[in-house]
Amino acid sequence: MTPGRLDFAIDVPVTSDWPNVEHLRSSVDRMIRLIAGDAAAGQTVSLVAAELAENAIKYGAWREDAGTLRVRVWGDYPHAHVMVESPVGTGDEVPEGLSKTLSFISAYPSALEAYQAKIAERADSSDGAASGLGLLRVSYEAGCTLRAEVEGATLRIVADMEL
Ligand SMILES: Nc1ncnc2c1ncn2[C@@H]1O[C@H](COP(=O)(O)OP(=O)(O)OP(=O)(O)O)[C@@H](O)[C@H]1O
Ligand SMILES: [Mg+2]
Repeated sequence: MTPGRLDFAIDVPVTSDWPNVEHLRSSVDRMIRLIAGDAAAGQTVSLVAAELAENAIKYGAWREDAGTLRVRVWGDYPHAHVMVESPVGTGDEVPEGLSKTLSFISAYPSALEAYQAKIAERADSSDGAASGLGLLRVSYEAGCTLRAEVEGATLRIVADMEL
């Protein structure tokens, strides 16, 4: 392996009793530290991977029994990309909630401003709940850009970042 070249994938079975994504997050964190020797980079990439994986588990069209969640990380450090795939109905477009979130982020000059705008929106609304912030938060905390596409029955979300 070329030093600094990131390229690994983690495939984990998803079951209905999946407790949380902490083990996955810490695995990604350790892999980045191992390859790049950069603790901050490990934290950043694993934060993004964990949010995308949590969403994939929550919103993916998983079959009753189980499925496999794939998290892939690659790039020439300090460039990094994280990809998480999850199932959607065949021929579906990018799910509306996701495309709205990505449009919301790109409507602002920076992810931080998008995050602040969403927080302000929440503070003004009656429900005031803290949900619906995950992708906004990782976009600004990790400084990543997000894109999504559907191919067949698979939704693929990719985060691009500089570490
Ligand atoms: N893998 C996915 N499949 C389908 N829809 C998704 C996926 N990931 C995100 N979404 C949609 O995008 C929305 C925004 O995701 P985001 O992570 O920002 O917020 P959230 O998961 O609703 O709340 P939080 O992350 O704050 O708990 C989700 O509410 C969901 O509708
Ligand atoms: Mg989320």
